[in-house]
Amino acid sequence: MPSDFERLVSALRRASRVSALTGAGVSAESGIATFRGAGGLWEGHRIEEVATPEAFAEDPERVWRFYEMRRRNAREARPNAGHEALAALEERFPGFLLATQNVDGLHRRAGSRNLVELHGSIVRRYCVRCRRIEEDLEPLEVLPPVCEACGNLMRPDIVWFGEPLPVEAWADAQEAARASEVYLVVGTSAEVYPAAGLALIAADAGAEVFEINPAATALSPMFSGAIREPSGEALPRILSALPG
Ligand code: OAD
Repeated sequence: MPSDFERLVSALRRASRVSALTGAGVSAESGIATFRGAGGLWEGHRIEEVATPEAFAEDPERVWRFYEMRRRNAREARPNAGHEALAALEERFPGFLLATQNVDGLHRRAGSRNLVELHGSIVRRYCVRCRRIEEDLEPLEVLPPVCEACGNLMRPDIVWFGEPLPVEAWADAQEAARASEVYLVVGTSAEVYPAAGLALIAADAGAEVFEINPAATALSPMFSGAIREPSGEALPRILSALPG
């Protein structure tokens, strides 16, 4: 019986259309805490209580303190071997689309370009009134930050619970999932929809879906196989098993 690793590598050797969905687990080895892992609370709050438009309306400073901590983490983190292997897969498979739920900017820093950030990016913020965008990871002097142009509140460019995903990013991600022969689901608990649904869209359309995650998820039984290793180890191993 070939192992799941061997089956994945041979599926990748045969495939020309490959894409991937990633979540917080990909950045765990860069030192960025996942959301639902042990101690995945922030100041005693569940993520669903901080990452909502209601929480921001009630106490923008508190929400910004949470994102300021995550911005500091992202600033101090470096892409790991998993991010780099995903960027290399884009070179190898034309049309490879990386759909990420991560907002830390590490995929882009690792060189991924055919990338959709389904939940936005912590690197950007925008004015709730005039929509002016600022883009940096520098520490903010005042929380909550206000717009230099019109004096209104700035918010992180993050898709909060209860908000729709960016229309074009979601359309591109669905199309890539539907077109894939092999689809990788990496470092996500697959609990937050619609993003997690991409794995099901790919499976329904006939892709071989492989999960790369040390832990099983609710969707694991739907997949063709799983590599139960940290992505920073599994992805480079997969890459080096491919020809060339
Ligand atoms: P979660 O924290 O829900 O899940 C992280 C997953 O990564 C878990 O299944 C872990 O087993 C796995 N994991 C941990 N270390 C890993 C490693 N080294 N290699 C591979 N996998 C590892 O994070 P997400 O699924 O990304 O949304 O969460 C989805 C969304 O919920 C986030 O985008 C965020 C959050 O609320 C918003 O902020 C809108």
